[in-house]
Amino acid sequence: MANVVIVGTQWGDEGKGKVVDLLTRHADYIVRFQGGNNAGHTLVVEGKQFIFHLIPSGILYPEKKCLIGNGVVLDPGVLLAEMQELAESGLAVTPKRLTISANSHLIMPYHIQLDLGSEAKMKQGQKIGTTGRGIGPCYGDKINRRGIKAGELLDADLFRDKLAANVAEKNIFLTQILGVGPVSFDTIYAQYQEYTEKLAPFIGDVSVELDVARKAGRQILFEGAQGTQLDIDHGTYPFVTSSNTVAGNACIGSGFGPAHIDTVIGILKAYTTRVGEGPFPTELFDEVGDQLQRKGGEFGATTGRKRRCGWLDGVVARDAVRLNGINGLAITKLDVLSGQPELQISTAYEEGGERLSAMPGNIRRVARLQPIYEKLAGWQEEIRHVRHLDDLPAKARAYVQRIEEITETPVFILSVGPDREETILLRNPFVK
Ligand code: IMP
Repeated sequence: MANVVIVGTQWGDEGKGKVVDLLTRHADYIVRFQGGNNAGHTLVVEGKQFIFHLIPSGILYPEKKCLIGNGVVLDPGVLLAEMQELAESGLAVTPKRLTISANSHLIMPYHIQLDLGSEAKMKQGQKIGTTGRGIGPCYGDKINRRGIKAGELLDADLFRDKLAANVAEKNIFLTQILGVGPVSFDTIYAQYQEYTEKLAPFIGDVSVELDVARKAGRQILFEGAQGTQLDIDHGTYPFVTSSNTVAGNACIGSGFGPAHIDTVIGILKAYTTRVGEGPFPTELFDEVGDQLQRKGGEFGATTGRKRRCGWLDGVVARDAVRLNGINGLAITKLDVLSGQPELQISTAYEEGGERLSAMPGNIRRVARLQPIYEKLAGWQEEIRHVRHLDDLPAKARAYVQRIEEITETPVFILSVGPDREETILLRNPFVK
């Protein structure tokens, strides 16, 4: 039996969806523990593309149980649309297959308005470049103790009272400060009544369910969203998301004790990308950056925005290993680097004559960092067909080995293409 956490090591979009899907075969339970529908996990299974924003990708396996933990912020309309889409593909989502934690917080229409309105009002340079899904305002309400939990949908009086108080308060801010809105209590109430009817059978106690599963020797996979540099505490604040994306939150965001986690897998894209605003030390503004963007199909799965691209950042990778306690890496999109004459990896930064080996906390310093690069030879061969490490070109193997050295962490998985089959599995974290 093993319980495994998967996290992104960079700024999200590392290809977690595919690795989660691969490992899901060995898990009985798949749990989301933070974020919301700002995430977008793209999977290609037998040529068919699926993008999940909320439901764990394990839903593609009918015998698995998917759980949405208390740490997730849930937009019920989005969840229902995803369930509908799956049903149309012949995968009916029933309460036997999905539980939503009663303690997860609901994204309300005013959260989305607040998110969009605040972004629109911010000056260039201050904008976060959020996904506009209401994530930050929803987490804000949770911390401010004004949030509405999924379980509260089941108590009509409580829900009505909390909604009324929130609408009154939010409308002042929306209309007087942001110059948008107002939102209507009646419209939201009616809409959420409809959602309640459909979602009520799915709402339960994820922590208790996980405890029963663990005691029965079932294998549990915790599916992180976004990436370590987007973590609210450890990322490039304020250009981050509003949740803790690091592995420790797998426990808090689902109600599972840390002593029961066996392995943490960090997903590391073979180069770096970032969507939205914020500093990105190894960003490329040249033809190589454009090539990575094109070859890697680097568009945000949620917003369709072009992702910014750059060289692999060894400092970011090392930080992620430390912050998450990563035991094994899954390197993704190695195939995208094929054809580059030369590759670079940053191993430290320079700022004001000082050499730094970890990301500083001060965002203005982050913006001034100059990466110190190490050059490696590129390989010209396409590698999507490769299924064994020994069959990779020597220069590709050297690149992977260098990542292991820089991070002091072994590689468990190498992804050489988007399809499930285009993978080199070196070590399976579920097999001890
Ligand atoms: P929010 O999570 O919508 O508040 O956005 C905050 C920041 O996190 C923005 O820079 C987004 O682009 C980024 N972000 C949020 N979710 C993801 C994701 O799943 N992948 C990559 N970036 C994300």
